[in-house]
Amino acid sequence: MAMTDFAAWSRAIQTRAENILATLLTDADIAPNTLHAAMRYVCLGGGKRVRPMLAYAAGETVGADPAQIDHAAAAVEFIHVYSLTHDDLPCMDDDDLRRGKPTCHVAYDEATALLVGDALQSLAFEVLAHPRAASDAATQVEMLRLLARASGSRGMAGGQAVDLAATGRALDLAELEFMHIHKTGALIQAAVLLGALGHGELNAATRDALERYARCIGLAFQVMDDVLDAETDTATLGKTAGKDAARGKATYLTLMNVKEARAYAHELLNNALAAIEPFGERGRRLAEIARFIVERSY
Ligand code: IPE
Ligand code: IPE
Ligand code: MG
Ligand code: MG
Ligand code: MG
Repeated sequence: MAMTDFAAWSRAIQTRAENILATLLTDADIAPNTLHAAMRYVCLGGGKRVRPMLAYAAGETVGADPAQIDHAAAAVEFIHVYSLTHDDLPCMDDDDLRRGKPTCHVAYDEATALLVGDALQSLAFEVLAHPRAASDAATQVEMLRLLARASGSRGMAGGQAVDLAATGRALDLAELEFMHIHKTGALIQAAVLLGALGHGELNAATRDALERYARCIGLAFQVMDDVLDAETDTATLGKTAGKDAARGKATYLTLMNVKEARAYAHELLNNALAAIEPFGERGRRLAEIARFIVERSY
């Protein structure tokens, strides 16, 4: 059977993710209605769904059926959307546009946006603890632990703390890399590993290859996010362009120019592709996502 191209595959994953998220989120007619409506507002109808794509693609490398990956993919996306909702708050990046719509605290209010993030974080772990989220109990506990660590002070939340502390201050390359690997890379790495673990325990070589791949594309993802903030327009991005420079954020573009940052992202792409070479054709989707991350325009 001929394999579908990446555009068709990624659209199919976006539709699959949208449907699963819509099913897992509580209906807005259940109390508290505003909180449930706001959770649906931030999760549905937008986003590239790169993390679900990574989870399904990593599942493919170990021969998983997509149905085995649904809960892991949704759990990571819920954490991601929670992180975006809080990232946009006035006390953090103070953004009013996200995924082409007013941010949660603008469409609702700050307290609701705070609670949306809290509730999405809890929902992520509830979903990952579902009996169908893993093939055996030991692997499931490992998956829960992995997502917890990737989200917390040693992962995304820790990276966000460094980001806020660095605003208006210059970071060196090592500090910047630490920040990016935590605030963005950790969750991307979790998406890859959870996708593969959804099928069961991993052998050391597979796990090592996936970890190396994920570390490279996780960093490349934020390098390109920094580049796009400076280079792309608000309509294409679906979030306000030029905000990093305006707010004095430490980004790759405070240390190098756009051409150098793009070259660095390509170097990371090549390292990611080398890491998954042993998978051959089974790693095709991971390779395509890696290219998309570095060559995307939004
Ligand atoms: C934006 O992530 C925030 C970062 C971690 C850089 P995405 O670019 O994946 O945002 P969506 O999910 O497509 O909206
Ligand atoms: C966000 O980084 C990382 C997380 C949300 C954890 P940014 O602040 O650069 O993300 P955008 O540009 O607002 O999407
Ligand atoms: Mg931020
Ligand atoms: Mg931001
Ligand atoms: Mg950004």
